[in-house]
Amino acid sequence: MTQFYEVFGAAPDGTWAAPGRVNLIGEHTDYNDGFVLPIALPHAARATVRRREDDVLRLYSVQARLPLQIPLPLLTGARTRGWTKYPAGVVRTLRDAGHAVGGADILIDSDVPTGAGLSSSAALECAVAAAYNDLYDLALAPADLALIAQRAENDYAGVPCGIMDQMASMCCADGAALFLDTRDLTQRQVPLDLAAQGLRLLVIDTRVKHDLADGAYAGLRAGCERAAGLLGLRALRDLPADGLDTALGRLPAELGPLVRHVVTENGRVRQAVEHLDRGDAAALGPILTAGHASLRDDYRVSCPETDLAVATAVAAGALGARMTGGGFGGSVIALVAQYALDQVAEAVTAAFRDAGHAEPRTFTAVPSAGARRIG
Ligand code: GLA
Repeated sequence: MTQFYEVFGAAPDGTWAAPGRVNLIGEHTDYNDGFVLPIALPHAARATVRRREDDVLRLYSVQARLPLQIPLPLLTGARTRGWTKYPAGVVRTLRDAGHAVGGADILIDSDVPTGAGLSSSAALECAVAAAYNDLYDLALAPADLALIAQRAENDYAGVPCGIMDQMASMCCADGAALFLDTRDLTQRQVPLDLAAQGLRLLVIDTRVKHDLADGAYAGLRAGCERAAGLLGLRALRDLPADGLDTALGRLPAELGPLVRHVVTENGRVRQAVEHLDRGDAAALGPILTAGHASLRDDYRVSCPETDLAVATAVAAGALGARMTGGGFGGSVIALVAQYALDQVAEAVTAAFRDAGHAEPRTFTAVPSAGARRIG
């Protein structure tokens, strides 16, 4: 709060927090209208905000230190850079959607690691969306705010992402995984108390920076859409598992593996939810590892560092492990018995050292709360 006053010369109206996420299972399914199962991280972006009565947007990030001041009517993607695209994109998208919102002074402070596949950008977008919702009395539901945040990322930051990250950041609940149908956004909170089952979720940030805007993600998405079109489907979600073999015979060779990943991955999400509903989180282990193999061999979005982290974690006693998020680097999650936590983390760190990779950052994650006002 003091810092806000120092930067903007006035007191803020409040502070809103929105978390990063890890996805337990359901990768590259969201833009295929499929299923996902993320949890929110304890790490969050916090937006301390003062509503302005003019059309000026002023942004400041504690981490980046660079201020930006811009009149809203002049706001375009080309006028902003780096992190400022996300908050500015949300404000712009709200206006484009017809909401009567004006300017604000916004101070951002985030402890979500950036470029680590943990949705630091969605956290930023959702913190600002939640603040605007309250300060401008928009009365939008969390899912509507997630859609605004996604549109900001698509149109403004130029990343053709699906809806998972923004829905996770807006809608996740403490102590639960979010089982989300990305076609109609129906959702269910699936209770997940890992500690009660003697388990931990280890997050391994490989420190390989991914960049979703680099075209690879867009290419994969386009491949899936082309395959759905060739099969006469609205989306790959509509291909049942028992139709997979026939479908593969009808598709060009390069599209087959993409389709196989999406169809089998949707199956893995449903299986995971069944296990969690029965209170058997340990049964998720093999599902995670199978999901990783599919991302590595069929979808081809893993990299040597994520493959090494998964293989080492499993060899050191993890029940299962997989890369999480869009891929091309980023983070791995490993489901680990409490007593094996240190041994798994140490094994991965040692393997990275031996392979000459940068030291990974490891931490344990508990399912945490979605976006909310905190001050
Ligand atoms: C990124 C995107 C999400 C989703 C994942 C892959 O995180 O932002 O929409 O597609 O990749 O599951």
